[in-house]
Amino acid sequence: MKISVIGAGYVGVVLSAGLARLGHDIILVDINEEKVKTLNEGKAPFYEKGLDELISEVKDKVKATTDLKEAVKATELTFICVGTPSRKEGYMHIEQIKEACLEIGLTLLRKPEKHYVVIKSTVLPGTSEECIKIISEVSGKKFPSEFSFAMNPEFLREGNAVYDFFNQDRIVIGSTDKEIVEKLREVYKGIESPILETKFRDAEMIKYANNAFLATKISFINEIGNICKKLGVDTNIVAKGIGMDFRINPHFFKSGIGFGGSCFPKDVSALAYKATEKGYAPRLLNAVLDINRDQPMKLLTIMDNKLNGDIKGKNIAILGLAFKADTDDVRESPSLQIIKELLLEQANLHVYDPSAMESVKKIFPHLNYTSTAQEAIDNSEIVLLLTEWPEFTELNYGDKHVIDGKNVFDTDKAHLRSKNYEGICW
Ligand code: UGA
Repeated sequence: MKISVIGAGYVGVVLSAGLARLGHDIILVDINEEKVKTLNEGKAPFYEKGLDELISEVKDKVKATTDLKEAVKATELTFICVGTPSRKEGYMHIEQIKEACLEIGLTLLRKPEKHYVVIKSTVLPGTSEECIKIISEVSGKKFPSEFSFAMNPEFLREGNAVYDFFNQDRIVIGSTDKEIVEKLREVYKGIESPILETKFRDAEMIKYANNAFLATKISFINEIGNICKKLGVDTNIVAKGIGMDFRINPHFFKSGIGFGGSCFPKDVSALAYKATEKGYAPRLLNAVLDINRDQPMKLLTIMDNKLNGDIKGKNIAILGLAFKADTDDVRESPSLQIIKELLLEQANLHVYDPSAMESVKKIFPHLNYTSTAQEAIDNSEIVLLLTEWPEFTELNYGDKHVIDGKNVFDTDKAHLRSKNYEGICW
């Protein structure tokens, strides 16, 4: 099938490359000319495990362009994968979605064939209906007879997105039009996943509830972890014990400095904001966010105790900037919150991350960025482990104080720890 994809963020690019591997011809649209050029050279525009290889494998089937109208005109189905940024308090902007729908509507004015539009971006319940209205008003075409629309949320994890694309737990398709559901079944042919058919709002809400539940699971184990720490109990063992109950399961159950990234903080805030707007006080979601906001401070309290509150001028190694391993993404990374706090205390920071240093240099140009993790350790008296990069287990920590905020040295690797090692919740 000929498919256009709007938005070359990690979802749009992974989706394009994955669909091309399934045999489809893709036109990927982005306003950023640099990204378009990189993609047309057969390279990924950002770091994502396995993506460079996949893009170069399918480069003859993926064409990138800045021309949205041409892309829609030349294809049968369009995925909208643009960003939905939100303000600190949770209000979500869907201007880019509306803009894409407007452009699609304008293109459909002069396209006689029926076109299929699918929204992938994370949007609150009610948005699909708004999109249908825009496309319909602008193009003068009727849904579902002259154009069709579906909401098909994505559940890819950054850093595992290529694997996740080909191994999806389920594919959710929300629409009231059977025809687009059949089209999407054809699009995803080759992926062995159950398909759940729903209405628009159900599909939109499934995405939010999914992320909110996972975020809750993390804040839950962090709360238990904070209590364990006070009681001298190892949270990792407790998580293992409760994870053996099949109703709980052991996955996604690691305590640490809290969740970051471009999804959980934004999506939980957006859902809480929407609930409040509708007159419901989302107490659990607010608690999930509160616990998460405080979690990096727990690590700083442990460090404070070790240094007797005397942080000014101390040399501290920061190992890890990315919000998790296998990505260079630092959005909402707890590591950055910790750096800010330490700068306020006038500490000397020696910073290393294998992939995320360039983006952090733009935010904090004056830190001591080291060329190896070992150099950061050697220059410091205390080491903070803030991203779970596996290479951090292979370093020589001597007898330095090491505080682990990410389970770098989990139970399997406990024998590799420095003897002055302490975990945030273990
Ligand atoms: C998350 C979801 O996992 C995806 O299913 C979803 O598609 C995506 O958001 C999205 O909405 O686009 P992602 O943000 O890439 O994916 O990363 P995760 O692997 O979910 O990790 C999120 C944060 O939780 C990270 O900071 C991670 O370190 C933290 N985390 C994760 C924990 O603290 N403990 C855990 O046990 C697992």
